[in-house]
Amino acid sequence: MAVPEAVGGGHRSSVTAPAIAPVASLVRLRSPRPPHPLRLTQTPQQAWSRPRRYLQAGRQREPLRPPPEVLAALGSLRFPNVYPDPTNRALREALAERENVDAANLLVGCGADELIDLLLRCVLEPGDVVVDCPPTFTMYAFDADVSAGTTIAVPRNPDDFSLDLDRTVEAIRRHRAKVIFLTSPNNPDGSLLPDDHLAALLREDVLVVLDEAYSEFSGVPSKVGWVARHENLVVLRTFSKSAALAGLRVGWGAFPSRLIEYLWRAKQPYNVGVASETAALAALSNPTYLEDVRNKLVAERERMRAALSERHGAWLTPYPSAANFVLCGVDSAVISPVDLQRRLAEEHGVMVRHYAKPLMESYVRVSVGRPDQTDRLMAALEAIVPGGGK
Ligand SMILES: Cc1ncc(COP(=O)(O)O)c(C=O)c1O
Repeated sequence: MAVPEAVGGGHRSSVTAPAIAPVASLVRLRSPRPPHPLRLTQTPQQAWSRPRRYLQAGRQREPLRPPPEVLAALGSLRFPNVYPDPTNRALREALAERENVDAANLLVGCGADELIDLLLRCVLEPGDVVVDCPPTFTMYAFDADVSAGTTIAVPRNPDDFSLDLDRTVEAIRRHRAKVIFLTSPNNPDGSLLPDDHLAALLREDVLVVLDEAYSEFSGVPSKVGWVARHENLVVLRTFSKSAALAGLRVGWGAFPSRLIEYLWRAKQPYNVGVASETAALAALSNPTYLEDVRNKLVAERERMRAALSERHGAWLTPYPSAANFVLCGVDSAVISPVDLQRRLAEEHGVMVRHYAKPLMESYVRVSVGRPDQTDRLMAALEAIVPGGGK
């Protein structure tokens, strides 16, 4: 394969494939498909700015607003011309104080996504094994692939999406896995990882990465404090969900001392922009607001789940969730999940998420929003399946 000659350079020569060949694992990666009907016509910002048309978001649109301090701080940003602090000292210290941990163990990233990628780039040699437990967040396998690792999937129990502990331990041992990703609450079902499962996995010779992106909605204390006691534990958190800052891209993690040094070496110096760090600090300055929003969301989650099972339990099975979404099994004898997603979007402007992949084909995931958004979802379901299919 020949690639186009460089334009405008002094030295012009045709470059052949071997010189620019990407690593094999990247060649294997499929390019992403448009994930939902809005993708083709609208940016996420355009879709979200039309709340009357599209209400219930299935993907990447947090329904709640960040604390007012965030927009005020962004509006009065004083030095956008100056590079950010590469150590994010102010934010790490504020987080350390809130979580009662040592700031020396904390690292901030351009979303938790960046930290997953950075971590795997630092610890994986080509062919090293990463274990994940699908259905779960797909970036673990994606980033393992990018880092030329091999992902071994240990599926969750199909009835309640709980971890299959025995098979997970067995896979770690048999494949001499270097890393295991655990997610609590898990995306896409919202189930929690019991403490004794985490403790059992920490006893294995493997780096345990616990992704707590949704932990604020769970009512269960974060395990960030455990990192000081476990040399093989990483805990990831984010401002995307609980502080509604998904668009500003701020995640953070607690890393054991013996590992964090290498992450500092490999990290891009200016990975978190000044606007992002400013926004995160402003969000932390109003814990009462964050708490209030969280409480409202949790109450709405429970109301939505109860309403779904009461009125549509004959064909829709909403799972208990500790996150800001509810996963629902769909009886395809009544309607296929793909048709349900399409009709909700096209006929009612209500977005839910369907995953066209194994293990998830018969489910849709609904994000929790405001009470009026739940009401609109319920009205739309009633119009599509009158009388709850009874
Ligand atoms: C489990 C989980 N971890 C991490 C992330 C990414 O978080 P961030 O927005 O901080 O990159 C997500 C986003 O949906 C997620 O579901």
